[in-house]
This record gives sequence, structure tokens and C-alpha cells, in this order.
Amino acid sequence: MQAALMIEARGLAKSFGPGLGVSGIDLQVPAGTIVSLLGPNGAGKTTIVRMLATLLRPDAGWARVAGHDVVAQGRAVRRRIGLTGQLASLDDCMTGRANLVMLGQLSRMSRRQARARAADLLTQFGLESAAGRAVRTYSGGMRRRLDLAASLVGGPAVLFLDEPTTGLDPDSRRALWEVVRRLAREGTTVLLTTQYLEEADQLAGHICVITGGRVAAEGTPGQLKAAAGPAKLIISLAPGADLARAAAVLARRAAGPLAAAPRPGYLEVPVVPCAGLVTSVIRDLDEAGVAVNDISLQLPTLEDAFRGLTGSAAAGLPSGDDAVSPEAAEARARAA
Ligand SMILES: Nc1ncnc2c1ncn2[C@@H]1O[C@H](COP(=O)(O)OP(=O)(O)O)[C@@H](O)[C@H]1O
Ligand SMILES: [Mg+2]
Repeated sequence: MQAALMIEARGLAKSFGPGLGVSGIDLQVPAGTIVSLLGPNGAGKTTIVRMLATLLRPDAGWARVAGHDVVAQGRAVRRRIGLTGQLASLDDCMTGRANLVMLGQLSRMSRRQARARAADLLTQFGLESAAGRAVRTYSGGMRRRLDLAASLVGGPAVLFLDEPTTGLDPDSRRALWEVVRRLAREGTTVLLTTQYLEEADQLAGHICVITGGRVAAEGTPGQLKAAAGPAKLIISLAPGADLARAAAVLARRAAGPLAAAPRPGYLEVPVVPCAGLVTSVIRDLDEAGVAVNDISLQLPTLEDAFRGLTGSAAAGLPSGDDAVSPEAAEARARAA
């Protein structure tokens, strides 16, 4: 049986004016999984999170979080969720511990329960030694951890993390990823927004690419990468190597048209990766008397997929126009 959906949205929309906001957002997030909304600044990620967290009323569509409608049953939703990315929920002048205890009491725990919960969270997040210090003395990474701890005080079933690691150094980022993974393992459903491809790739089982207020594509990281295009063999020919012969040999292995790589003397061959591919291509070229400097297999990355969807091509990479026949590749390489 399929796991229960902890977040479900259909046709969710919010407009802030012509061309601003989000529309037609459909989401389905099973319990205990991590889903990522991946998109550039201004794509609409925070707007989606705010609607799901009952902070913003949708113009159209509906959403259910932890089984409750975000509009009609807002209070029930708020009791089951945690939200970070709003460091405002922390009081800078209070200690880390006092912040957590206060939040516990606000969520109707007794003082004793709140203190126990705070102690537990401070340990989990490695903040024990800083617990008695005012939050304003915390480093960026410590603040994020405390912010995350604060969102967990009430033991939420669904956690919304809005760009949890933006601005953090790599070590703090990795530490936070570990915490998020652990929470999901323990059954928390996590919706995480990010601008970082690596973050989505590392954490999420399912990624929704958000651009211009819409879901531009979605799938597992593997599915999105596969949709970005085939793997490529990048071949650097030795000076004076016979390009025409190389192209003819490589065309037999190619899963599509050969492309002239951005640098002269290189060829790019779309391939279906399989065991021993590189070795057998080297052998083929060797037998044909083509001297090769270097050959490497490049698998599509999430960045390729993202670039394809957002249309922001990185400079210097071949576009569709560069897909050419072996003959043309040779002529171009010779001209270069
Ligand atoms: N309260 C608001 N008033 C007007 N425009 C807004 C408001 N909130 C967001 N927007 C606009 O909606 C779009 C999506 O914003 P947002 O959801 O914050 O994107 P993201 O979180 O992906 O950076 C942007 O164009 C932003 O300027
Ligand atoms: Mg945002």
C-alpha cells in the first residue's frame, strides 16, 4: 500500500500581480520522505511554503497538510507542522535554552516538559555548550541549528525548511543535511526549498523544479538527470590525429549525432553508458590508428537538467546548433 500523503496540493495559486506569484501547483508528498522545491530566486518557493504552512491564503486550488485542509483547518495544520527559515522566531537577547523552553510553553507544554524537550533538542543539535549564551553570540551555523531545533519543539509530523542552508559554510551545510536525513529516517516528512542543486540531489527523493511560479519538471534526481540528455564520452585527440577516422570509429558507438566539443581537438560522443565502454572505445581508436590523449565519460548532472529547464545555459557549452555530423566535426576541428 502506498504511504499516506502528508502534503497534497492541487492547482494551488497565489497572485501578487501580473506575472507575480505561483499557479497550478500540484504536490504529493508521502509520509517520511524528503521532497525539494528547487528553483532560482523569485521562482515562487517561499510563496508555496507559506500557503502550505497556513501563513498565506491561496487564491485558488487546495492543499492538505498532515490530513487537514490548510484554509478550513488552519489551526489543526499549525499544530502538526514546523517551519524554519524565519529566524525571526528566535529572540536574540534570550539564551538558546530559554528560546526553546518558551516555544515549548507556547505550544502548551508544562514548564517541566518544555525544559526536558529543550534539553533533548540542545543535545541532538550539538548546542549544549552554547545553551546558556544569548543567541546574538551564535555563529550562522549555530543559529540555523537552533532555528531548526525551535521548529521541532512541538514534534511536527511535517517540517518545512525554506532555504535552510543558504549562506552557510560547507561544513555547517553538511551537518544540517545529516540532521534532516535523520529526521526523515525517524518519520518526519520534510519539504525543503533550495537554490542549490547539490542540496536537492543529496537530500530529496523527489524534486520539483520551480521556475516562474510553476512546476517546470519533477521526478527523482535520477529521472531529472536522465531527462537532461545522454551521457557523453569526451575524447581529446593527440596532435595530428586523423579526425575523420576518429569520427567514423566513434559514430559506431554514438547514441546520437557527434558534437564538436568546445575546445579544438576534442570530440563529444553521446553514449549509453555500459561496462567496459571506455576501454573498448580506446581499443577501437587504437586499431584504427587514431592517437588519443585522454578519454572520459561524463554523466548528465542535475545541473544539466536544471539548465535545460530554466534556459540559463552556461557560457562555453555547446548548444543544439553544435550537434554536427562526423564530417562537419572534422572540418570544424581542422579549422580551429
Ligand atoms: N508579499 C508579496 N507581494 C508582492 N510580491 C510578492 C510577495 N511575495 C512574493 N512576491 C513575488 O512573487 C514571486 C515569488 O516569490 P517567492 O515565493 O518569494 O520566491 P522564492 O522563494 O522562490 O525566491 C516573486 O516575483 C516575488 O517578488
Ligand atoms: Mg524564498
